[in-house]
Amino acid sequence: MRLDVVTIFPDLFAALDVSLLGKARTSGLLDVHVHDLRDATHDRHRTVDDTPYGGGAGMVMKPEPWGEVLDGLLADGDDPLVVFPTPAGTPFDQAAAKRLAGERRLVFCCGRYEGIDQRVVEDTASRARVAEISLGDFVLNGGEVAVLAIVEAVGRLLPGVIGNPESLTEESHEDGLLEYPSYTKPAVWRGREVPPVLRSGDHGAVARWRREQSLERTRRVRPDLLPPG
Ligand code: ADE
Repeated sequence: MRLDVVTIFPDLFAALDVSLLGKARTSGLLDVHVHDLRDATHDRHRTVDDTPYGGGAGMVMKPEPWGEVLDGLLADGDDPLVVFPTPAGTPFDQAAAKRLAGERRLVFCCGRYEGIDQRVVEDTASRARVAEISLGDFVLNGGEVAVLAIVEAVGRLLPGVIGNPESLTEESHEDGLLEYPSYTKPAVWRGREVPPVLRSGDHGAVARWRREQSLERTRRVRPDLLPPG
């Protein structure tokens, strides 16, 4: 999968050099290109923002540098999905991560300040597939950290990135429920015992216990995930 990231903070994406995603890049499963938006400015101060029409606090990202960068990235006609992370987007979840993992190329546009001039989204949508995606009901200072989270969620779903693909089917949100709690050795730690059923060797009983724990946890912390009734 090819990823292009447009940002005014390219250094933040050093995080993609380490761990599983770093390995995925070295092995060629992930081809990441980070672009500095300021390289598409043409004034001495490399200006990327301006005051908002209509007034109000904060600054808005100017459309011209975005237009120039996206013209370049969309020129080769390989039909990428262009993602604008924004708290005003559709919520990101595991189903969205799976959809993105099915793309051949993603272009991420990281806004800062009060966001990007909306005409950039409209202009891009007139010639490419566009998704405005929110990580949740909270506000980050910019799209960069959201992109890191999205890339991690998507990257680990790509075939070959995770050594044991079975670990992907046994985790939170895979069956619509939160994951059951996990334990490892020692059997007793600071007086706390691992639930005996997990040490019983009875695979059926273990599976039933885990299912009950998943349900109980989901009911307790995320009842909104359960079907009504
Ligand atoms: N940019 C700023 N806040 C964000 C959020 N909650 N999700 C995605 N992108 C963002």
